[in-house]
Amino acid sequence: MKTARTAYFCTSCGNETLRWEGRCPGCGEWNSLAKAPVGARSERFTAKSGAVRRPGLESKPEALGDGPATPLARTQIGFGDFDRVLGGGLVPGSVILLGGAPGIGKSTLMLQAAARMAVTGKRVLYASGEESREQIKLRAARVGASTARVLFISTTDLSELLKVVESDPPDLLLVDSIQTLVASDSTAAAGGVKQVQESAALLLEVAKRYGFPTFLIGHVTKGGQLAGPRSLEHLVDVVLLFEGQRLAEQRWLRSVKNRFGSVDELAAYRMAERGLEPLTDPSAIFVNDRPAEVSGAAICVPLQGRRPVLAEVQALSAPARFSTPQRVATGFPPRRLAVLLAVLERKAGLPLTGKDVFLSVVGGLRLVDPSADLGVLAALVSAELDRPPPAAAAFVGEVGLSGELRGVPQCAARVRVAVRAGLSRIVLPAAARDEADWGPEIQFAEHVREVVAWLRA
Ligand code: TYD
Ligand code: MG
Repeated sequence: MKTARTAYFCTSCGNETLRWEGRCPGCGEWNSLAKAPVGARSERFTAKSGAVRRPGLESKPEALGDGPATPLARTQIGFGDFDRVLGGGLVPGSVILLGGAPGIGKSTLMLQAAARMAVTGKRVLYASGEESREQIKLRAARVGASTARVLFISTTDLSELLKVVESDPPDLLLVDSIQTLVASDSTAAAGGVKQVQESAALLLEVAKRYGFPTFLIGHVTKGGQLAGPRSLEHLVDVVLLFEGQRLAEQRWLRSVKNRFGSVDELAAYRMAERGLEPLTDPSAIFVNDRPAEVSGAAICVPLQGRRPVLAEVQALSAPARFSTPQRVATGFPPRRLAVLLAVLERKAGLPLTGKDVFLSVVGGLRLVDPSADLGVLAALVSAELDRPPPAAAAFVGEVGLSGELRGVPQCAARVRVAVRAGLSRIVLPAAARDEADWGPEIQFAEHVREVVAWLRA
């Protein structure tokens, strides 16, 4: 008797190995290998690119021809800056992957967008494998969205969905979520990489054939990866991430890949009691409305994705109550804080030994961009001196161990964002001096000592 050969597939990147290993040799993810028959690599997948052979589809080559390309006829969603993030609206036949952590508001965002488009007379089909018609209607009522004309189907069966779509193609298809769809004739493990890839590839082909845009909602795993498939990212036209902290209300939508536009745009929303509300000035969502300058608060301009945003850091120092001073940082790596405190003490003559130090980033943002070092340092200095930083100031730069300021990428874009928000004194690392024709609002520093002196003055 012939037994089917089995192998191990990584649920994160799809890599195949013969033996089980604790860590995927392909992507380095731990505990991600799952056993499956080798046939799981479905016959329909002809290449790594996810290309699909599908009976009944015949395509003939056609000459590209001369002359300009017809501009893309984009459809507007009209929900905050959503269209800007897409590069100016929905492109016919485009497939957009919308990733985000569970509970962040993906379904709400899609429902509100769907309702807006349906109101303008578009035929929107919302396919959910996660929620029932009643649940969706409840959500629609809660957010006050008119869904009278939104078509709904509750299914986890890919073939059923394809049949519905092909018999009467909609103007927009929403799939919530790609992980719940199962192709009945597939041998791949449900929810696994192959499964998700196959479903996406088939939906993509139909979307391209009939020319309607499609949103695929995908859950993001703990590690921040689009669950299962990083491999979906190359298949689809646009990858959007919907982010924020569950307990804070700000949400932001940004693209990490866009075949039809730049990935620098950001749309900001607020998750309110009655759904998502667009915020008009995304660059300022992480900055407090402050009546006056206060000590201990400084503004930095970190990159969120590829787009700079303004972020406010608040610091407080107080005489330590115990022999070991407390150092508490929210939204900033504690080790970086320890380094900055040591630099202040040894390289700038401002010891905070014997002080409790508290640091927090406004709006639930996590500062991972090293360019935020200087803003954090400025907040610490301002807190310790108990005097506000100069009015309308922003601080950009990575701090080295000897107190030197290191250059960071995209200074010009950061300055644009800061100036647009009304900031008029921006400190940059001296390394950026030759990068652009800088205006009078820019001042350069080589060492944190200069910045500390400026804050003291
Ligand atoms: P949901 O869209 O279901 O998230 P996802 O599809 O990404 O899993 O939104 C879930 C959360 O949003 C839920 O915990 C409640 C909150 N929420 C509001 O605060 N206001 C609202 O109007 C809605 C619809 C949801
Ligand atoms: Mg959902």
